[in-house]
Amino acid sequence: MPVIITNMSSKSFPEGFYWGAATASYQVEGGIENTDWAKAAKDSRVPPCDMACDHYHRFIQDFDIAKSLGHNAHRLSVEWARIEPEEGVFDKKAIEHYRQVLLALKDRKMKPFITIWHFTLPLWFSESGGFERRDAPEIFARYSKYVVQQLGDLCEYFSTMNEPSVFASNGWLRGSWPPFKRFALTDMVSITNSGRTFESKANKGFGALFLYLRVMRNLADAHNAAYRSIKEISPRTDVSLVKHVIVFEGKNILNKLFAMVANHFWTHRFMRRIRHHVDTIGLNYYFYKQFGDKRSWRKTDMDWNFAPEKIYEALKILSVYKKPIMVSESGVADDDDSDRAEYIQKQVEGTWRAIQDGMDVRGHMYWSLLDNYEWALGFEKRFGLVEINYQTLERKIRPSAYVYKEICETNSVVEYK
Ligand code: BGC
Repeated sequence: MPVIITNMSSKSFPEGFYWGAATASYQVEGGIENTDWAKAAKDSRVPPCDMACDHYHRFIQDFDIAKSLGHNAHRLSVEWARIEPEEGVFDKKAIEHYRQVLLALKDRKMKPFITIWHFTLPLWFSESGGFERRDAPEIFARYSKYVVQQLGDLCEYFSTMNEPSVFASNGWLRGSWPPFKRFALTDMVSITNSGRTFESKANKGFGALFLYLRVMRNLADAHNAAYRSIKEISPRTDVSLVKHVIVFEGKNILNKLFAMVANHFWTHRFMRRIRHHVDTIGLNYYFYKQFGDKRSWRKTDMDWNFAPEKIYEALKILSVYKKPIMVSESGVADDDDSDRAEYIQKQVEGTWRAIQDGMDVRGHMYWSLLDNYEWALGFEKRFGLVEINYQTLERKIRPSAYVYKEICETNSVVEYK
């Protein structure tokens, strides 16, 4: 598909804006065996992750690609289970690996943004109760502090955790992710992936709701404790939390009320608990839901509404906290790459509009640099700017990545046909 691009320099971004893509360790690195997800895969409850993209050994090649695509920043996560494989025991070799990763970014003049924990838990922690544990906040703070102590000279921006609400609702309400607790009396539908069927075999019951509430509280306390511990040793490190925002809207009074309640429970309840412990907020945006909406929406490959421009509303929801915002993820699963360029263009334009309206947005990370392990859905959903052939591990840049390149390099919204 030929793509003709014209630069709309009238729609440019502030100087120094960060452009890049995001990845998460478990989803791309490969070879991580000692986590709750690896255990769940062994029990056939989720698809196996195995070698994933083998990014662990190929990060140089991947960063060369990102650099060639005009990125000046990159969001990555470090794997807790590699760094602290046993409770209180830290692995220097794991740290050395991530130092090499950060040096590779530095060599390419790409600013790193590290997420300290992105969903997967070391087995010793998950098996002993994970974020249900009363001492989870201290355990998490100790780990976070260690990461910043070891990597803080190579990175200024750390997010403590990715999407606490998604982690807790999938694990304790829907029962589709470890630890597979489900607040419902119906069974989960099983998932078929690459010809195999996986059953979450969730424990159902009302108790899951109470555990969910406890986990959400512990996650907020864990973030706050980590923030304080990091600041003690490194006051100048920018510490953020990455929040998944669903934009709920309604047009009439009743639906507006529903939307207000939904936004409260999904976003504000948690944000209010942590608002005094963030320097920046990370926004992950994927979902738009209008109550009372009868339209039949165009869908992405995830069956989510195709609404990239609504990122504007997501930014608005977070802007009430009066902190700088980083778009830490937004992107689309699009197997044949027919919709991705349009999606990117519209999410970037929505971000640009937000800046015009006074919102303090500092950067934009497309999800994702590479196709990767999409959690309980395995490898079939394709979010990457770069396609991965999982047989040969060959990388192939998708046409839409060049539209994004033009955006990054011109620091402005582009039009394409
Ligand atoms: C998560 C990613 C995930 C992406 C697409 C985000 O919620 O942070 O790990 O792959 O959404 O579903």
